[in-house]
Amino acid sequence: MSDHVPVITIDGPSGTGKGTVGLLLAHKLGWHILDSGAFYRAFAHIAHQRHILPEQIDQLRRVGDQLDVRFKVRADEIRIWAEGRDITAAIRSEEGGRSASIYAAIPEVRQALLARQRDTRRAPGLVADGRDLGSVVFPDAVLKIFLTATPKIRAERRYKQLKDKGFDVNLSRLENEIAARDYQDTHRTISPLMPASDAVEIDTSEITREQVLDEIVSLLRARRY
Ligand code: C5P
Repeated sequence: MSDHVPVITIDGPSGTGKGTVGLLLAHKLGWHILDSGAFYRAFAHIAHQRHILPEQIDQLRRVGDQLDVRFKVRADEIRIWAEGRDITAAIRSEEGGRSASIYAAIPEVRQALLARQRDTRRAPGLVADGRDLGSVVFPDAVLKIFLTATPKIRAERRYKQLKDKGFDVNLSRLENEIAARDYQDTHRTISPLMPASDAVEIDTSEITREQVLDEIVSLLRARRY
């Protein structure tokens, strides 16, 4: 039964390092990884390509039913394929995040993606990162982490990340875009971004990703995993 497969959830806003730490942790444990933001980004990309507006609920449901998204996990990144094409570069921009955030506020979209996310739970274990993984998607996770960092540091990290990936970015614009996306994710009525009541919060502002990883591993060992 997949319910017995252990899950670690890592939630938090953009730029806290959850993607990087999640990947490191999954490699260290030899567990599977779920980048749930990539599902929302891929969904938004396809809906946008088909000119489906956020208010066209029936068409959005159809996109959800037919969505064919695959993850190819490499040593230091996850590549995302949809409908037979590698869409990683197309969805990783801040604009891709903004568009994902708009569709992610629609209950029918979240409902369509819920089962897809739960289906990624496979032995020996799953590391899942996103916004509501501990609170909604995997409420029975063995360990729930919520990462935070100051807005300035998050913007700087995202800036470096996007620059390294070849995107043309402007730091002050990015700061504003991240703040707008955080506001939207935190204030939506369904599954708003917030820590699960039993999540352990880690402020990553002043520590390295290796230190974050060590802290998560020791929390996991304390739970006998
Ligand atoms: O994590 P990432 O930046 O890729 O997520 C893109 C957007 O997808 C988020 O800003 C959020 O609106 C949405 N998302 C969500 N729930 C998740 C993961 C992502 O609503 N579990």
